[in-house]
Amino acid sequence: MIPFYIAGRPATSTETLTVRHPYDTQVVGETSLATEEQVAEAVAAAATAAAPAAALSAADRAAALDEISTRIKRRSEEFAQLITAENGKPLKWARAEVARAVNTFRWAAEEAKRFSGDLQRLDTDPSAAGRIALIRRAPRGPVLGIAPFNFPLNLVAHKVAPALAVGAPIIVKPAPATPLTALLLGEIMSRLDLPAGMFSVLPIPNDRAAALVADPRLPVVSFTGSGPVGARIRAAVPEKHVTLELGGNAAALICQDWPDLDQAAQRIATFGNYQAGQSCVAVQRVFVHRDHMAAFTPKLIAAVEALKTGDPRDETTDVGPVIDEKAAARIEEWITEATAKGGRILTGGTRDGRTIAPTVLTDVPADAKVCADEVFGPVLVLTEVDSDDAGLKAVDDSAFGLQAGIFTKRLDLAFEAHHRLHVGGVIIGDVPSFRADQMPYGGVKGSGAGREGIASAMDDYTDPKVMVLTGLQL
Ligand code: SIN
Repeated sequence: MIPFYIAGRPATSTETLTVRHPYDTQVVGETSLATEEQVAEAVAAAATAAAPAAALSAADRAAALDEISTRIKRRSEEFAQLITAENGKPLKWARAEVARAVNTFRWAAEEAKRFSGDLQRLDTDPSAAGRIALIRRAPRGPVLGIAPFNFPLNLVAHKVAPALAVGAPIIVKPAPATPLTALLLGEIMSRLDLPAGMFSVLPIPNDRAAALVADPRLPVVSFTGSGPVGARIRAAVPEKHVTLELGGNAAALICQDWPDLDQAAQRIATFGNYQAGQSCVAVQRVFVHRDHMAAFTPKLIAAVEALKTGDPRDETTDVGPVIDEKAAARIEEWITEATAKGGRILTGGTRDGRTIAPTVLTDVPADAKVCADEVFGPVLVLTEVDSDDAGLKAVDDSAFGLQAGIFTKRLDLAFEAHHRLHVGGVIIGDVPSFRADQMPYGGVKGSGAGREGIASAMDDYTDPKVMVLTGLQL
């Protein structure tokens, strides 16, 4: 039985949680669910740890983060195999995720050393002559990090690393489908010399999370997951600082000036289907300037058809299963709905158990679920647009706003897209799926509130605290 972690110490309960491989449902491992008493113990320990955690020096925080990074790197292949086993993403993507997590912790170590605050001069008004403000940031308190299944390591890292960097205790609730990777991270962290209560990793079912969300001793909730759950969390605790990383229906636009349709087709095929489309910034909607449509369409189909589906443990597999049967059935249903509304399948459209064949649809009305909602599956919807302007409008015509990818080399168009689109990030010359772990990452509209990316999350986990100095010669 793989233990979970309460206040840095291994623990178990009698309620077994069996984790199965999404591809063939073989048992990957067994852990247990934290009981109500164990959850209460973890929360009390986090509250007690708040003061000693905030008192840790920058050197201590950075050293712990560096150590975690080093230890993950040392065990990279073990992490990658485990991610593939419990999440079903192909090994190549699991390895990429581990490499990113190594960087995420390393970045946090750097940011912990840089986290100094700001100076603001106040003598801009005669009544404040000789005054200056020192603005430092103090942890708001223990963080509750609720992580999704699609990046079982790196999206946990994006909650844990900034918490350690600012000196805030954290309780991680991993996704019930993929707790084992977070527990392996917990094992690594349990070997560090951190204040007792600095971290807990608690597998609990989603329907038991409400009490944790509501607990006033956890003033920060950082949630990554679905829109409806995010909305419920925000409504339940309006007084808390809640960061929501929700979904998206990310779009790519190929503008009239884009010279390299082979590159665009390749990138869109890859990032519409990586992790079987289970990324909030996987390409879903593809808009193509009419001058390119005839040439681009067969290139995209060929690039999608070249992707190999199958067992994610096979080194050559590009597209594995989605997380479970329910998700696969839903995606299949959405494809059927799109075709019932007039959509045409250019390739794919079939399901084999939990594996959806990489699919390209066209002629799909904008109100079909595969356009309007988040598919979270290997499905691309191709649409011709009459102009770059119409393309930008179409990209922005969404209830979500996470990232967009604009294939243009025109600087004026890049700035126009950046200005006009209601999203958290615009990627010029590439797919919307690009993410560097140090950059602010998050969305607007239905895609959430707040930003991850180490420095941004550190701001989210802390309150500015001003000290005004008076009588100074400035
Ligand atoms: C997400 O699915 O929101 C995370 C995407 C990423 O980290 O690349």
